[in-house]
Amino acid sequence: MKVFVLTGAGISAESGLGTFRDPGGLWRRFDPMRLATPEAFADEPEEVHAFYNLRRQGVREAAPNAAHAALARLEAGLAASGGRLFLCTQNVDDLHERAGSRAVIHMHGELMRARCTACGAGRPWAEDLSVDTACPACGRRGGMRPDVVWFGEVPRHLEAIAAALDESDLFVAIGTSGAVYPAAGFVARAREAGIPTHEINLAPSDTAGLFTEATYGPATQAVPACVDDLLREVSGE
Ligand code: APR
Repeated sequence: MKVFVLTGAGISAESGLGTFRDPGGLWRRFDPMRLATPEAFADEPEEVHAFYNLRRQGVREAAPNAAHAALARLEAGLAASGGRLFLCTQNVDDLHERAGSRAVIHMHGELMRARCTACGAGRPWAEDLSVDTACPACGRRGGMRPDVVWFGEVPRHLEAIAAALDESDLFVAIGTSGAVYPAAGFVARAREAGIPTHEINLAPSDTAGLFTEATYGPATQAVPACVDDLLREVSGE
């Protein structure tokens, strides 16, 4: 069995990382147009660095939760039965990797990496960034940025994601509001391919009507249960 799982901020909520559109969410408190666009970075780089330094600190202090761990189990279990998990996340944290997932598609980039706008070199980066940070590759200061996809920039790995969706037998969305495209459109593509679609979320998302199955509740409870069911199914129990 090949399973495509799309995760959003909700899977990391119980690890203490904020979501974006829930009450108290990041975009309820901050203006994304002033902090998450290339123009904002050009105009106010220190303000953008301060925002992402705070988020990076939150990721350093967070731990993966039972939902992240369950998806790592699902990846291993599907591989052992000749199947495959395609794990695509909108999140920029590294909690999937720290929970043991080995193949993670970061369509919105990775907060724990930095990239130089002068030479393009990217690398793991867990510390603060500032306009004085020198690029380790080219030495230029002022060009190091979080290696995340900002509004107005193109999400990554879209061809690989489309190919993975087209060869999957099941589509599962976890902890996403279905508010941001192209990710919010993946369920429609799965429906067109005629495969079952399952939404796991705290509350119905904007695309809830497109799912053939839904489980509403905290990801740390719903995801392990769903993974157990899937692994029983593939092992023929
Ligand atoms: N368990 C399961 N779902 C949860 C939990 C939880 N404990 N807590 C919150 N949720 C759900 C909410 O109900 C909501 O539908 O997670 C979803 C989070 O939605 P958003 O805050 O919109 O986050 P997301 O869907 O990941 O946003 C997509 O928007 O701003 C961009 O790049 C950003 O990747 C992000 C994208």
